[in-house]
Amino acid sequence: MRIGNVALSSPFVVAPMAGMTDTAFRRLVKRHGGCGLVVTEMVSSEGLVRGIDRTLEYAEYTEEERPVSIQIFGGDPQKMAAAAQVVEGMGADIVDVNMGCPVPKIARHSAGCSLMREPSHAAAIIAAMSRAVRIPVTVKMRAGWTDDERNAPLLAKMVEDAGAAAVAVHGRTAAQSYSGFADWDLVAQIADALSIPVFGSGDCLEPTQVIERIDAGVEGVLVGRGVLRNPWILAQAADLGAGRPARPVTLADRGRFLLDYIHLLENERVYEPAGFRHVAGLGMPPAARGSHDRWVINKLRALGSWYTKGLDNGSHLRTAINAAESLTELRDLIEAFFNPPTGQTSRPSTDRVAAVQA
Ligand SMILES: Cc1cc2nc3c(=O)[nH]c(=O)nc-3n(C[C@H](O)[C@H](O)[C@H](O)COP(=O)(O)O)c2cc1C
Repeated sequence: MRIGNVALSSPFVVAPMAGMTDTAFRRLVKRHGGCGLVVTEMVSSEGLVRGIDRTLEYAEYTEEERPVSIQIFGGDPQKMAAAAQVVEGMGADIVDVNMGCPVPKIARHSAGCSLMREPSHAAAIIAAMSRAVRIPVTVKMRAGWTDDERNAPLLAKMVEDAGAAAVAVHGRTAAQSYSGFADWDLVAQIADALSIPVFGSGDCLEPTQVIERIDAGVEGVLVGRGVLRNPWILAQAADLGAGRPARPVTLADRGRFLLDYIHLLENERVYEPAGFRHVAGLGMPPAARGSHDRWVINKLRALGSWYTKGLDNGSHLRTAINAAESLTELRDLIEAFFNPPTGQTSRPSTDRVAAVQA
């Protein structure tokens, strides 16, 4: 399948998730296979245009993640067009527009999901961006702002006419936030009405659900929280889609993922004085190393809150991760939890985690 001129090897996509889908996480998911596209965390158009280091960091990606879509947010058509040019200049394959974020900090500036309340303005943004860049411009939206304003079908058609190359719809309203369920009937209805590819998003926590959604008529599926809990979900969905049983994931595999994530993060965002590009492990002064470790620990805490859901003794692991004060401590407790000594058949007890902590 394709989005504009970009070929996707699979219809399964890592959904954009602020604070979570950083380049290290995306790389690890991609390495497992089954993933056709990764989307960055949302990035401020204002920050991109002004060249703010912090913003540029959120947009970082590596070659092995391709094809990569960089998601931007903002409400000013000219600035969004200029930001799309920055994204294109960075070599990204696709630029995606966030029309789904309900968080007031974003939505009150005529950005994120509040754009759904101004469909003509939203379409003007897409038209300006489409004129400004050659890479595909895509849109991610919700079902609407409230239950009384479920206008995704209208907005999707308008952005298609304005030049969008694909649309993704999370089938909840902004008012719902994450309560209730995503309305996949609405998503299927939009997919039916548009000629560009339509992706659906919401509530795919198991690989079987990903396949069911594809079978219901969308072009592709964005998986968000499911991939944070189980980074193998896209690979497993691809197995099922190919008629194979979903690959098993052992406890040791799950532990290895966290250790690999720490390893990649340790080598991330190591600043060169003049730019946003990082250089693996070189030249970082000791003080910066300390704060970098803290950043890695915080990233592990953020992932831990999702990754431990559904695991036996997961809440204990979560507590232990949150209490860890160094990367060594973090590694040790991950080893102890996921790699019990040979001969131990049951999952490691919380005492082992506690013992590591002590
Ligand atoms: C922690 C978190 C951060 C998110 N950040 C973004 C974001 O930056 N941009 C966006 O379009 N959607 C964002 N989303 C929404 C997801 O992309 C997705 O549409 C939503 O979670 C529903 O899919 P799921 O049930 O598979 O998680 C975020 C979701 C979560 C849980």
